[in-house]
Amino acid sequence: MDNKKVYFLHISDTHVGETEEFLYHGVNTFARTKKLIERIDTLQFRPDFILHTGDIVDNPSHKSFQLAKEAFQKLRIPIYYVNGNHDDAFCINEYLKMGPKVDLDLSKDKLFYKFETNENLFIALDARGPDEIDPEGLIPEEHLQIVENEITTSKFPVSIFVHFPPINIDTQWMDKKMLIQNGKKLHEILIKNKSKVRGVFFGHVHNNITMFKDEILYSGVASGMRQFSLLPNREVNVSYIDINLETDLVCIDDGQIIIKQVIFDE
Ligand SMILES: [Fe+2]
Repeated sequence: MDNKKVYFLHISDTHVGETEEFLYHGVNTFARTKKLIERIDTLQFRPDFILHTGDIVDNPSHKSFQLAKEAFQKLRIPIYYVNGNHDDAFCINEYLKMGPKVDLDLSKDKLFYKFETNENLFIALDARGPDEIDPEGLIPEEHLQIVENEITTSKFPVSIFVHFPPINIDTQWMDKKMLIQNGKKLHEILIKNKSKVRGVFFGHVHNNITMFKDEILYSGVASGMRQFSLLPNREVNVSYIDINLETDLVCIDDGQIIIKQVIFDE
C-alpha cells in the first residue's frame, strides 16, 4: 500500500502548570515548553504537523490550559493533541487549536478523532480512564469497534496516536500501573490489519522507547521536561532532571517508518 511521504514531529508530556512559575519536579515547564515551541518553529525543516501525545498540562484546570494556549498558539505548524491522564478533553477542545480533523466521539469529554494527511490516516484515541484507575488507561469498548471499522475501511495506511503504552514495556513499575488496561484488544485489532498499520505513537513514559510486536511498531517519545528511567528492574519511578530538549521526527514513506531524534539547542 503506497502513500505519499508524511512527516510529523512527535512531542509529549509538557506538564505545563497553573502559573508561569510552576515547577514540575524542579523544572519550569511553562518556560521550557515555550522554548521548545520556539525551537520547533524556527527549525530548518517544516514537518506536515506536530503530534503532542498528551499530558499537555500537569493539573487539568482552566488556568493551566490558558497557559498552555499561550505557549502553543505561537506555533505556525498544525498541531494535534492527544488526551493524557493529566489533561481534560473538554479543556483541550476549548483552549487549544488543532489542525483539521473529524471527531469520532461527539461528546465533549472525549477526544477521539481522525484526520488524513498526504494519503495517510491518523487516529487519535482517548484512553483516559476514570480517576480511580489513573495512571492506567482504558479505551472505551465502542471506540475499539470504531477503530477497527476505520482501519478496515481505510484506503490509506493508518497510524494510531494514544497517550499510554498499549502493551508492556519491560519496566516493572510502569507495567504494573501505566499501561492501557485493555491495550491487548487494540493490539489484536492492529494485528488483523497489520499490512495497513504503520505504527502506534505514545507518550506517558517520559523516555524514548521502540517496540515491535507481531509486526506492529510502537514508538514512545521522551518528554523534554523530565525523563523517567525505563530500566527493566525499576520498581518505583526514578527520574532525571538534566535532560535534552528533544523530540522525534517521524517520516512515513512507502511502507517505511523512519524515526529520528531531534535535539534542540538550549
Ligand atoms: Fe501521563
